Amino acid sequence: MRVLLIGSGGREHALAWKIAASPLLTKLYAAPGNPGIGREAELVTLDIADHAAVARFCKEKKIDLVVVGPEGPLVAGIADDLRAAGIRVFGPSRAAARLEGSKGFTKDLCAKYDIPTAAYGRFGDLASARAYVEQMGAPIVIKADGLAAGKGVTVAMTLAEALAALDACFDGSFGQAGAEVVVEEFLVGEEASFFCLCDGVTALPFGTAQDHKRVGDGDVGPNTGGMGAYSPAPVMTPEMIDRTMREIIEPTMRGMAELGAPFCGVLFAGLMITGEGPKLIEYNTRFGDPECQVLMMRLKDDLLVLLNASADGQLAHTSVRWRDEAALTVVMASRGYPGTPEKGSVIRGVEDAAGDGVEIFHAGTAINSGALVANGGRVLDVTAVGGTVGEAQRRAYAALDRIDWPQGFCRRDIGWQAVAREQAR
Ligand code: AMP
Ligand code: GLY
Repeated sequence: MRVLLIGSGGREHALAWKIAASPLLTKLYAAPGNPGIGREAELVTLDIADHAAVARFCKEKKIDLVVVGPEGPLVAGIADDLRAAGIRVFGPSRAAARLEGSKGFTKDLCAKYDIPTAAYGRFGDLASARAYVEQMGAPIVIKADGLAAGKGVTVAMTLAEALAALDACFDGSFGQAGAEVVVEEFLVGEEASFFCLCDGVTALPFGTAQDHKRVGDGDVGPNTGGMGAYSPAPVMTPEMIDRTMREIIEPTMRGMAELGAPFCGVLFAGLMITGEGPKLIEYNTRFGDPECQVLMMRLKDDLLVLLNASADGQLAHTSVRWRDEAALTVVMASRGYPGTPEKGSVIRGVEDAAGDGVEIFHAGTAINSGALVANGGRVLDVTAVGGTVGEAQRRAYAALDRIDWPQGFCRRDIGWQAVAREQAR
């Protein structure tokens, strides 16, 4: 098979690494990719926003499957345009990607299909949003409706914070994404990420993970795209997975089909496991980053077989096997992240740090005069497997400590909840 992978982060490096291991693969291209992905794929320069150009490339290179990593191109309708040109795609249509692209859309779907989620209101103007927030009181959660690169959510512990967040949305801080606002009840519980491969009809459970969104040890400081993750998530017991499928995922699949937007691709449910059971915090319509990295380390099966089954509507006849081991990834970020990261600092020792059961996925890296340099906020994902989360954690940090990059930083406590659980046993 000839495959084109779209994206350039650690998620896409992990996908490229796993796709490259498939006996079905004859050629892998990645656009734009990064230096790590460049070890697995031929990197190509394509304007991803120009769907006609991407389709031309696919025709010319006889691409059998396009795998779309990030949400941006999906929300912009790349899957629709490629399918219209007769090209097979792993990823949802623009209409189905509204599950990620519009928080209000998803909340309305939940209301219509009785899917457990936080109580909410949708507002298009400041005055009515303020009135609702004042009536509900704090803690309360304020969300810009559209895509805001993970920065559109404020979990406000005080009324003042909540009102300031509303002002920011309606001031245009998030551009069009903040023109409409969702205000939500504050949920209490443990968060988990749950993934399903979907083919429009069938949703196949595809692993669990927990990530660490805050920048600092002990889960403090500003939100990031994720500073580390581990899989599996201990809270996602077989019973909890069954409930999540029945109460959240299956009604979503039915609802999307009824709306004429059947969901194909990977559905990533951000869950809060509350005293009453699983509740949906949000959907993403792509793999998590860095959750994908730990899933790929644990996946026993051929990823291309699974992506094909999803693209061809064959998931009802497909199963997935996982390694028994846990996997854990630690993100190394460039100083300044999640604000403005420093770019261009030289990173040494990456090749030597990887090894048995340890993979170092590249995210924001580049090559400058032959040297590997930082080229973004999240730069490397040091990922290890182990018999327990604790063992995976020790191996990941041992590898990370061999990397020579003074301008980089990481959290030192990735996996702490799971490790504490293991130690209490
Ligand atoms: P989101 O971008 O929707 O994933 O939100 C970012 C983070 O905000 C989530 O991972 C949660 O930690 C938190 N969050 C979002 N919605 C709620 C909620 N209704 N109650 C409590 N925490 C929330
Ligand atoms: N790590 C969270 C996300 O990919 O949205």
